[in-house]
Amino acid sequence: MPEAVEIVEVGPRDGLQNEKGVIATEDKIALIDLLSNAGFARIEAASFVSPKWVPQMADGGAVMAGITRADGVRYMALTPNMQGFERALAARVDQVAIFAAASEGFSRANINATIDESLTRFAPVMAAARDHAIPVRAYVSCVTDCPYDGPVAPGAVADVAARLLDLGAVEISLGETLGHGTAEAVDAMLTAVTKRVPANLLAGHFHDTGGVALANIDVALSHGVRIFDAAVGGLGGCPYAKGAKGNVATERVMRHLEAAGYTTGLRSEIVDQAAEMARAMRGKDSE
Ligand code: HMG
Ligand code: MG
Repeated sequence: MPEAVEIVEVGPRDGLQNEKGVIATEDKIALIDLLSNAGFARIEAASFVSPKWVPQMADGGAVMAGITRADGVRYMALTPNMQGFERALAARVDQVAIFAAASEGFSRANINATIDESLTRFAPVMAAARDHAIPVRAYVSCVTDCPYDGPVAPGAVADVAARLLDLGAVEISLGETLGHGTAEAVDAMLTAVTKRVPANLLAGHFHDTGGVALANIDVALSHGVRIFDAAVGGLGGCPYAKGAKGNVATERVMRHLEAAGYTTGLRSEIVDQAAEMARAMRGKDSE
């Protein structure tokens, strides 16, 4: 029997957060509604961060209110603090995500906190999520390289991942934020992380700046990782990681995995339509 791999669609959040102009709320809703019919179990639809930091995501509440929820799809959103969690709760998000980093430079640039401070800030979010029976995903950024601090030690990634798991996260998504980590670096990182966090609780989140994301997905597969984040049309980047290009494109990951004999449960014709819609949105933005 072919083995299943889950692709988590993060384009509406990780993709659109990085567009220079503001994408209309109705366009975001149209993209999410199309993605909702493509067979994803999870779509990261919004981000409840400070609008002063990321104005592109300020309309998260309106996006969540406007989408047509499909059966079997869980809609996720980023929540960096209690203010974000309260907004996510009001928007009836199914899963929230906290986000930490394995390097101090990125942690400060992205969420204005040291790694220790960020974990202290996440504790009440975890407690509130538990009270409301909302599962929490946790991201670790800069798992091989940091735009501020340079190469990141595998042990530092394993430490943060293990601490997030101890806090109560149900899954740790490992973010190769810059998108040019080598296969050797990803392999060393996963060797360290899987000693502390079982592979079935990990997700791979690869940006594709250097065109190495698919090779790194193969490395992660060899370590037992079976969940990958991707964005239709290769949308994305991170506003606090200059030069980081888009997430690896969902349509490429889907074809790559299926050619290797895995099933993704995705409807390729809808994924392709969504990729086209995503690229058109980006085009509109750069006009
Ligand atoms: P801060 O400035 O230290 O926080 O930012 P603050 O508490 O002093 O708040 C500043 C202002 O923002 C206040 O407003 C707050 O009310 C407001 P004022 O009093 O000045 O009018 N505020 C909020 N408003 C709405 N919702 C909120 C919220 N929080 C504060 N949740 C903070 C700290 C964490 C808030 C800020 O740094 C932040 O929002 N950072 C998020 C940056 C971000 O979204 N980055 C991209 C996502 S991470 C990513 O892309 C990586 C990932 O894809 C994995 C990978 O690829 O590596 C996940
Ligand atoms: Mg990302």
